[in-house]
Amino acid sequence: MKIIIINGSPRKKWNTAQMCRSAQKGCEDAGAEVSYYDLTDLNFKACQSCFACKRLGGKSYGRCGWQDDLTPVLNGILEADGLILGSPVYFGNVTADVCALCERLWFAGLAYSSGKKEIYERRIPVKLIFTMNCPEYNFHKYLNEHMLRSMERFIGPAELLESVGTMQFDDYSKYETSMFDVAERLKRHEEVFPQDLQKAYDLGKRLVEEAAAK
Ligand SMILES: Cc1cc2nc3c(=O)[nH]c(=O)nc-3n(C[C@H](O)[C@H](O)[C@H](O)COP(=O)(O)O)c2cc1C
Repeated sequence: MKIIIINGSPRKKWNTAQMCRSAQKGCEDAGAEVSYYDLTDLNFKACQSCFACKRLGGKSYGRCGWQDDLTPVLNGILEADGLILGSPVYFGNVTADVCALCERLWFAGLAYSSGKKEIYERRIPVKLIFTMNCPEYNFHKYLNEHMLRSMERFIGPAELLESVGTMQFDDYSKYETSMFDVAERLKRHEEVFPQDLQKAYDLGKRLVEEAAAK
């Protein structure tokens, strides 16, 4: 059982990464083998509109033909039994790195045909983990719907876990934070974030169970 986990935050030890690592533990405790990637370590581009994935008879038809550090990650997703993708919310969207990954993953799986529009045959369960400053669940509902719908269309049944009201700095006194109730934010980090990490762990376990049931 192979699970691929991708942290789309540029910070490799902060909220999104901790959620992804907790999910990794859940996956491993359930018996899965995990490949973990920090996207920020990889040198890659967004979709270059080369259309190698659409070229009839081409060796990359139905696969992203652009070769860079993202290539093994994209191939890994298509060969895995389950996917966990984490991203902080940036201006109501996933990060630019995660956007670039999704462009290349989804576009290669989209057929420009008059019949069936999806090329990938396999379906694997997908878990999305979004972390954000805003303290309200489903505040970014259009993003959530778009990501869930697109993942379901191209990759497989998708579920989203949100961690909201995250701690953004290690020392709030060093930054302009007058818009925040800092005491409340730190309290939330101590009391609610550990619960979110537990939910991420459970999510990882559930992913493996769902993948095994397929
Ligand atoms: C460039 C940028 C844009 C952001 N935009 C949003 C936003 O639109 N909504 C939100 O709730 N939080 C926003 N945030 C806050 C982050 O989503 C939040 O702090 C997140 O948990 C950071 O994840 P990390 O700790 O894994 O890096 C933004 C942060 C940055 C740096």
